[in-house]
Amino acid sequence: MKLRHNPASPYVRKVMVVAHELGLADRIELLSTAVSPVESNAALAAENPLMKIPALTTDDGQVLFDSPVICEYLDSVAGGGKVFPAGGKARWTALRQQALGDGILDALILCRYEIAARPEEKRHAAWTEGQMRKAHQGLAALEAEDLSGPRTIGPITAACTLGYLDFRFPNDGWRQRHPRLAAWYKGVETLPSIQATKPPAS
Ligand code: BEZ
Repeated sequence: MKLRHNPASPYVRKVMVVAHELGLADRIELLSTAVSPVESNAALAAENPLMKIPALTTDDGQVLFDSPVICEYLDSVAGGGKVFPAGGKARWTALRQQALGDGILDALILCRYEIAARPEEKRHAAWTEGQMRKAHQGLAALEAEDLSGPRTIGPITAACTLGYLDFRFPNDGWRQRHPRLAAWYKGVETLPSIQATKPPAS
C-alpha cells in the first residue's frame, strides 16, 4: 500500500495512528507530498481529483480517500471490527466522535490557511472568528464525549485533533477550558501510536 503523506496533516496522522494500532504501519510506503490550497499538483490529482491528502493506493491499485474511508479500509485489512465497531451503538458513537473531531479539524485548517497563507491586508477577521467559534463549540462537545473506552476511530480522531491544536494553535488554551479532555489526552499522548506519528517541530 502507498500513502500520500505529509507529517503536518492531522488527517494523515489519523490514518497512521490507525495503521500503528492495527500493526499495519510497516506495510505502508509513505509518499512525501506537498499540499497547498492554491497550487496544483498533477501527480496527486491523478490519484485524488480533489488534490487532498491522505490518499491510499491499495496493493491491487485502487485509490481510496479521504481519511474515514482509508481508516475503515485498513480496519478491514486487519480483519474488521477493530477500530470500527461492527455495529450497534458502539459503531454510531465511534462514527459520531470521528465526525466531530474531523469537523473541528476542518474549521482549524481553514483558520490556519487564512492566517498562514494570506497576506494580512486580505484576511477576513470575522470569517476566521466564525471558523474558530465552530472549532471551540466542537471542543466543548468533545469534552462531553466518553472517550475512555476501547480505542476506536472516535478517540483516535480526538487525539489527532488535540495534537493539531497544540501543533498549530499552541496558545489556544483548550486545556483550561476543558480539564476533562486535558486529563484524558494526558493519558493517550504517551501511547506508541501517538508518539510514532507526532507532527514535526513547527
Ligand atoms: C498544516 O501544515 O497545518 C497542514 C498540512 C497539511 C494538511 C493540513 C494541515
